[in-house]
Amino acid sequence: MTYIQRCIACHAEFDLDARLYVCSQCGGLLDVDRREKIASEPSSLRELWLKRKSSLDARDRSGVWRFREFLPFPDDVDIVSLAEGNTPLYDAPRSADYCHLPQLKLKHQGCNPTGSFKDTGMTVAVTQARQLGARFVACASTGNTAASLAAYAARADLPCAIIVPGGQVSNAKLAQALDYGAKVLEIEGNFDVCMNVIRELTEDGSVYLVNSINPFRIEGQKTVAFELAEQLEWRVPDHLVLPGGNLGNSSAFGKGFRELLQSGLIDRLPRITVVQAAGAAPFARFYANDEHSAFVNEEHPKTLASAIKIGAPVSWPKAWRAVSETGGGVIAVTEQEIADAKAVIGRDGIGCEPASATTVAGIRKLVHEGVVKESESVVAVLTGHLLKDTDYVINYHSNSLVAPDGARIAGNFANAPIRVSASLDAIRALL
Ligand code: F0G
Repeated sequence: MTYIQRCIACHAEFDLDARLYVCSQCGGLLDVDRREKIASEPSSLRELWLKRKSSLDARDRSGVWRFREFLPFPDDVDIVSLAEGNTPLYDAPRSADYCHLPQLKLKHQGCNPTGSFKDTGMTVAVTQARQLGARFVACASTGNTAASLAAYAARADLPCAIIVPGGQVSNAKLAQALDYGAKVLEIEGNFDVCMNVIRELTEDGSVYLVNSINPFRIEGQKTVAFELAEQLEWRVPDHLVLPGGNLGNSSAFGKGFRELLQSGLIDRLPRITVVQAAGAAPFARFYANDEHSAFVNEEHPKTLASAIKIGAPVSWPKAWRAVSETGGGVIAVTEQEIADAKAVIGRDGIGCEPASATTVAGIRKLVHEGVVKESESVVAVLTGHLLKDTDYVINYHSNSLVAPDGARIAGNFANAPIRVSASLDAIRALL
């Protein structure tokens, strides 16, 4: 087989079907790697991928499997797909004004089948679960991974369990997981506690773990870099900015762009910048510490952006590689900055969930600080759909959003509903 799993710390090699989530020798994270380079010319690959867009083959309809030359499966693999990927890359004039950055584009991963970027990884992880003959799949989640796994497990007819922090997941995400038939276990404790529990539970191999520590998730998510490069006619932006929680997605973008560069499909890397919520920002603190020596978890992560309320991100070594090898950075933004940026993205007619808005908040800050120049091109990755957390939106627009520290968040771009009597005169007076 052309592919192997390799430990990023001690470089030990393992077969693809070794049901491992971390290196059995040193505990390091694993990458799926190709033994030799892709032989095809960049131009013929580009042509092939473009041609597949007009095909009716399920593998070609998927924005992930369309790039299957870079995925660790035989060409005739029986995929588990919901036609994920193929998400829009938007111009966003209001967000661009807000950031003082004319060349801003938003890649909306919230337009995936279950409303988040997780689907691009889940199609590959659940396909691998089926290849391995797994009888049960599971994950810990702040909500989106749960919704995504539940959907793909349902498609594959595989029983699945998800472990979520009780009372801390938005209703929309919970509703999805329930509707898709997952066994939903709400435990007392935050996401980090859920993650520890699931890792212990899956250690003996009887249950297949599909959190992003599983390298097959990263394989799927890396294809977003391919799709984005294609949408930009293979010219990479100066900066790519994305939210950071468990740090799988930052790792995936790093790997995707690295493989594109190695294959001659692009000629340089974008700087990858990760943005965290200030109350859940262990990676930003690690980055700010000049020596980058010890990674210190945040014991009590706090943010209203519940998707990224994570204090012990498992994939930080891979994300660190992505940031350092591209000359990017890691920053944190406040609850107020996230809320305002989210409302501005909404005014572009796009919308996203709170975690995704860290990107525009972060870009505004980076432009203000001169780290990003006004003349540079930037793509922000919106990771989740607006409808993932409507309580947050309604509270912001009715000026009743309260940060975890008890501070009221100002509705600087609030658009509150107006109560009016059912008379035409009264309604006309308001228009
Ligand atoms: N944005 C959204 C909407 C998310 O749901 C997540 C993570 C992230 C950003 C951060 O991505 O973890 O790869 O750094 N959500 C996970 C979940 C943790 O369980 O749904 P990351």
